[in-house]
Amino acid sequence: MSVEITEGGEVHIYGRGRLGSRPRIGILTSGGDCPGLNAVIRATTKTAYWLGYDVVGFRDGFEGLIDPIRYQVLSPRNTAGILIQGGTILGSTNKGRFAARIGESGRAEIDSKLIDRVAATIDRLQIEGLIVVGGDGSLSTALQFHEAGIPVVGVPKTIDNDLKCTAYTFGFNSAVLCCTDALDRLHTTAASHERVMVLEVMGRHTGWIALHGGIAGGADVILIPEIGWTYENILAKIKERREHGKNFTLIVVAEGAHLPSGGLVVDADGSQNKQVRLGGIGQVVTDHLEQMCDQDVRCVVLGHLQRGGGPTTFDRVLASEYGAHAVRLIIERKFGQMVCSDPPDICDVPIADAVDQIRTVDPNGSAVQTARAMGMCFGDTPGYQNPFVTTNEKRLSPLPKARDSTGV
Ligand code: F6P
Repeated sequence: MSVEITEGGEVHIYGRGRLGSRPRIGILTSGGDCPGLNAVIRATTKTAYWLGYDVVGFRDGFEGLIDPIRYQVLSPRNTAGILIQGGTILGSTNKGRFAARIGESGRAEIDSKLIDRVAATIDRLQIEGLIVVGGDGSLSTALQFHEAGIPVVGVPKTIDNDLKCTAYTFGFNSAVLCCTDALDRLHTTAASHERVMVLEVMGRHTGWIALHGGIAGGADVILIPEIGWTYENILAKIKERREHGKNFTLIVVAEGAHLPSGGLVVDADGSQNKQVRLGGIGQVVTDHLEQMCDQDVRCVVLGHLQRGGGPTTFDRVLASEYGAHAVRLIIERKFGQMVCSDPPDICDVPIADAVDQIRTVDPNGSAVQTARAMGMCFGDTPGYQNPFVTTNEKRLSPLPKARDSTGV
């Protein structure tokens, strides 16, 4: 590793690779990692290279921008082969001095002195535009940079798929595949032992992973934050299945689903500007059901397996499109914009529009209605109710309007 250390006043710069004379684009990956980050880095680097730009990758999220400044010069050569790799070659963090998200929608102000020092780094390294790859917290920080005059653009990343203004964040599809694969495996063991299996998945305060994974993996019950549920309704579903000769049941529960009492199950409390850490609801549901029914109930927590490993083909394409489009935004000097997906197009919106609140599952959207139509239970009713048929007249009800489940 070639390390160049420059000391001027209190500024320490640890740079890896030689900066050339071409104009420069910066990139960093911030927040929880997810499959596809490296695909974005590679797409950005290759696109910039062919357009005559060099790319400077900052280390460990925003932290690499100051104190000390840590970067790596990226090239088509040193990013070769990373398309299929999980994680991020630049490192990432979802805590530290630049954490700007508290709870579901609160915003913490970043210390203005820190922002001034970031601006100085951008000037010192002659970065024409900085690409921030992150979820709503990191993009809230990017927005504050933009408000302070730092040239930034955003790329939406998160397995949770909870960012507004985009149909998909990359990483989501890979996480759903992980959930689906887990359900496929649980299916056979649940059937063999005639058990109820509870699978807890991530997703923060939204149920996107549980909903899509549940449909793809053929779950019988899906519990999500957007739909209230009761234990009695779950038991009614288990009973109904047994009456139809199905002596096992698969339940997917989103980590952010509310208990019937209304509370969240948390692993660690949010305090001092930290996000609350969700987790544990799977075991709570399992313990409760075990007391209420005469079947074995087992819990599996999928956890960070959903964030690890390489991206799916869908995420590779999406991440590549996002990376290439972000370079374009910088060259067009469309700062303060976030790349987004509006199938079949890739376009962009102001970051400010995307981060003011999270995008939740529409309980009347097509995915939920499809699941209900197939007999899946969300724990809110005791029996089957076909959403496509009006109860009185037995007529087909109107289809949900296009895109209502994406919020775009
Ligand atoms: O936002 C992505 C995510 O994986 C959430 O689904 C989850 O609640 C959280 O991050 C976990 O964060 P950590 O990696 O800090 O445990």
